[in-house]
Amino acid sequence: MRTFTITDRRTKVSRVICRRQVLSKALPALLQGYGEVFVFSDETVWNLYGRLVTRALGSVKVHTMPAGEAHKTPETLLSLLAAMAGAGLHRNACLVCLGGGVVGDIGGLAAALYMRGIACIQVPTTLLAQVDSSVGGKTAVDFCGVKNLVGAFSQPAYVLADPAFFATLPARELRCGLGEIVKHGALCAQIFDTLEQNRDKLFDLSFLADIVPANIAFKAGVVRRDAEEGGLRKCLNLGHTTAHAYELLDGTLSHGEYVLIGTFIEAEIARSHGGDGAYLSRLQALCLAVLGGMPSLPPPEEAARVACLDKKNTGRGRVVLTVPMSKGEYRLLELESTAYERELGRIGRALC
Ligand SMILES: NC(=O)c1ccc[n+]([C@@H]2O[C@H](COP(=O)([O-])OP(=O)(O)OC[C@H]3O[C@@H](n4cnc5c(N)ncnc54)[C@H](O)[C@@H]3O)[C@@H](O)[C@H]2O)c1
Ligand SMILES: [Zn+2]
Repeated sequence: MRTFTITDRRTKVSRVICRRQVLSKALPALLQGYGEVFVFSDETVWNLYGRLVTRALGSVKVHTMPAGEAHKTPETLLSLLAAMAGAGLHRNACLVCLGGGVVGDIGGLAAALYMRGIACIQVPTTLLAQVDSSVGGKTAVDFCGVKNLVGAFSQPAYVLADPAFFATLPARELRCGLGEIVKHGALCAQIFDTLEQNRDKLFDLSFLADIVPANIAFKAGVVRRDAEEGGLRKCLNLGHTTAHAYELLDGTLSHGEYVLIGTFIEAEIARSHGGDGAYLSRLQALCLAVLGGMPSLPPPEEAARVACLDKKNTGRGRVVLTVPMSKGEYRLLELESTAYERELGRIGRALC
């Protein structure tokens, strides 16, 4: 078992626990001090793991949502809040969020809002949710066509990360989580070396179980130093400016797959801005090993236009990228939108 602690500026302590059998061995004990327990999940995850939850907790109040990003809406949030109110939860209740990043983000926001904040325990069941979304206290729903537009920073009391959940994950969801893991590798030399040394077993469940704690430790370390994205936490945006632009324009791949493409492209941009070429080629090889090949990309002028609109950018026709430079090193690069478009065009032609 490994435990990591995050304390945010409101001195709220959040603990991430990595261990097996979280539902039967960890969750019941952690819930002891709370008044009522309410479980939020999606239909897919509840069908797979609901029986284990009721075996561990006895009969428990549950609310489920249909699976998928399309349902990460204010309507789903409101129906969860209505179910919590209908169950008569008090301020000392605890909301348990069992699922991927969608369930975690909506449930975390509901816990932050209900009675101005009740306790929340995150039980992330996807690789992406374990290494990324459940750690750090960002919660949100999509609104007016913009991803994560309405949300709050709110740390869960506990995150319980158990690799046993990976056994039922489709390969595509593993690839999605690996996108964020490769991003961590681009920021942290130790994670990069582990991934490179194990390139032939990136999808092995036992390898993934082994690397989850190091990835949580890395993200927790960043969040601990900058919980509300004042500076350092922006490093986690590596590859994401380009990823978000392609995701919005194309939308046929998973978020993690776009992160792999974005990391590949931004490594290429870094190459023409003083990055270490040999290292960047190794990072790109890792992206391709997970991705399995580069798909055709949307037109550069469209991608540049959409990137300028990204909420993390400054506006005024400029694009901010967090690019990898050398092993464990990154920099923020601000480009005129026309220069960014030229780079995307050049890279796109070279890939053809
Ligand atoms: N809060 C943050 O800091 C943060 C960071 C990154 C991503 N996110 C958010 O996370 C979301 C993506 O998360 P995700 O990739 O986990 O997606 P998801 O929650 O939609 O889960 C993906 C699919 O896997 C299914 N699933 C979940 N666990 C399973 C299991 N153990 N076995 C079989 N199927 C399972 C789900 O039902 C769903 O169909 C996005 O909304 C994104 O915005 C948030
Ligand atoms: Zn991401």
